[in-house]
Amino acid sequence: MRASIGPWIAAALAAAGILFGSAVQAAPDITPKPVSMAEAAGALRISDGATLKIDNPADRKTAAFLADLTARAGGPKLKLSQAPRLAVITFARGDVADPEGYRLEVSSQGVLVTARTEAGMFYGAMTLWQLLTAEPGKTVTLQGMRIDDAPRFKWRGLMLDSARHYQSPAFIRSLIDVMAAHKLNTLHWHLTDDQAWRLEIRKYPKLTEVGGWRVPAGEAPARDIDPATGKPRLYGGVYTQAEVKALVAYAAERQITIVPEIEMPGHASAASVAYPFLAAAPGSRTAVPSDWGVYPDIFNTDERTIGFLQDVLDEVVELFPSTYIHVGGDEAVKDQWKASPTIQAQMKALGLKDEHALQSWFVQRMEKHLSAKGRRLIGWDEILEGGLAPGATVMSWRGIGGALAAAKAGHDTVLSPAPILYFDNRQTRRSDEPPGRHFVVRLEDVYAFDPMPTQLSEAERRHVLGLQGNLWVEHIRTEARAAHMLFPRGLAVAERAWSPVGTRDVADFMRRAEPATARIRRLGFAAAETPFKGPETIADPLYRDSRQLKLCTTNIAIALEDDAPVRGERATFMTDIMNPCWIWEGADLTGVGAVRVDVGQLPFNYQIGKDIEKVVAGNSRTPEGELEVRVGGCKAEPIVVPLKPAAGNPAVTTLEAKLPPTTGSQDLCFTFARPKVDPMWALSGVWLEPRK
Ligand code: ACM
Repeated sequence: MRASIGPWIAAALAAAGILFGSAVQAAPDITPKPVSMAEAAGALRISDGATLKIDNPADRKTAAFLADLTARAGGPKLKLSQAPRLAVITFARGDVADPEGYRLEVSSQGVLVTARTEAGMFYGAMTLWQLLTAEPGKTVTLQGMRIDDAPRFKWRGLMLDSARHYQSPAFIRSLIDVMAAHKLNTLHWHLTDDQAWRLEIRKYPKLTEVGGWRVPAGEAPARDIDPATGKPRLYGGVYTQAEVKALVAYAAERQITIVPEIEMPGHASAASVAYPFLAAAPGSRTAVPSDWGVYPDIFNTDERTIGFLQDVLDEVVELFPSTYIHVGGDEAVKDQWKASPTIQAQMKALGLKDEHALQSWFVQRMEKHLSAKGRRLIGWDEILEGGLAPGATVMSWRGIGGALAAAKAGHDTVLSPAPILYFDNRQTRRSDEPPGRHFVVRLEDVYAFDPMPTQLSEAERRHVLGLQGNLWVEHIRTEARAAHMLFPRGLAVAERAWSPVGTRDVADFMRRAEPATARIRRLGFAAAETPFKGPETIADPLYRDSRQLKLCTTNIAIALEDDAPVRGERATFMTDIMNPCWIWEGADLTGVGAVRVDVGQLPFNYQIGKDIEKVVAGNSRTPEGELEVRVGGCKAEPIVVPLKPAAGNPAVTTLEAKLPPTTGSQDLCFTFARPKVDPMWALSGVWLEPRK
């Protein structure tokens, strides 16, 4: 089939400043955008029962997945066919330069997908899926075309934190489907942390039996007694090795590698509760903790602990065929190492000059162990401190400095810098965003991120493997919310990682992302629609959700979910945990007699080290504390409303502050005075009451 220079190419040339005719037909919407698309002669109707033939038996699973995914997205039912010479769709192995590349040709005779490898064929099939499911409908007419495509980067990733909250294997399968459909190929799976150890390790069963479960923070979970034990109900979950093997196989059929992460030497609490000898300060923790933030718990550095963790890695490499094994390395607080005479003596004996060098020694022990098994170690950028292990790959999260340092030192690197690729940040300022961090990372912001640092030389650039969006889930409790945070921002990661350098038309991307998101939702995956809704029009001038108020400060600002009720709908409070203070700017107080405030108390479950001293507290007049409302900004005299009526209620209580007669627009300021840091008080919403 020969491609004609059709109007799409004209569009591309027009975009490049070379103007062709004006009659431009829209190119099909494919995300990530292919390397080249050209219109060709003819058109093809594909309806229910259209046949699909494969050349190579290795492509059978790809064909079956295409048929399944097409039907699930509301497209025509495809029939896998063994024999017919004249199939509507043909998968043929052929000469395509890039091992992940493919060619897709549509003519009135049929669709021909050509690739050299299984991976290439899979990506061709996923492009065809997008052509077949642009709109739901059992009959699709495709314009003749030719697509030539191959990826820019090898590492096209998303990270899922399954430690802070557990997600079901069914959810992870649905995520894998959505990733695969958009040519993402790496699922970094964060399986262990302070708050849980999720991965079954046969040699050390207590890691999951003990480490997979905790009592969540707060009054409501503490009161939720499990009749079987007479103690607060445990919350959590574990992944059995059988479940993991099934997920790894499911992902592999979709060309996705699951890269497991086993955190060390920090983020060690859950493991150390299960096996106390693992702790550098044994006995310092006796229950799996439920605070967020960074715990001081760190693994011991004795041979017993090193051997234990290497045993764990032995089971990990049996379960995960991934070349890369992630060993964490981030946020390892070294205080317990500093305080241990045994560890200090060990450092001296090893000739290590400081605790960073000890972490480097620790990581090198793991690196040697993994490389002896033919695997490669990857870790967060802190593994650069104290000297990078030979052969280690660096995942750069504290900006891109780690990536630059790694590439310049001749090491491979993956970019996942905060905050731009941290999908626990909210994506719009709308009040219908679920809980998450206050910082706004819009879909178009993710799209604007280019993972290739301009500071690198040509040779150094070869060390940039690709990029990854990370979903930490401290504040993302449910699977539906995880889906909302991951997509459509995952589409921006996919396009940045796959499409050629220079693919930069954000308006075109946003236009494609909206129907792509609708299609993801047709698959049953709750991708966010908020990025396409536009700014909120505040319909009711008498009400503001906390997400619509201004925070006075944003030290650690998060939209937090209430801890109550344990089951059922919970309120969301946007607050700065360091300083509870909100402003309703320019509230029209004409005819307003009172302000009603929905308040709730939240556990202060944050490990923030010495910063705890900076939290605004200890300023109350009564044992329960007070809500303070100020008219005319935060410096005005407060109207003081006691919190006593709300103190016994773990869920939301409505309080009222009577206002003096006022007219016109005024800034309303809301703060809480409280006796101590825990519990925190926050407001979920405020409304103005007309004067009676
Ligand atoms: C990280 O966000 N601690 C890698």
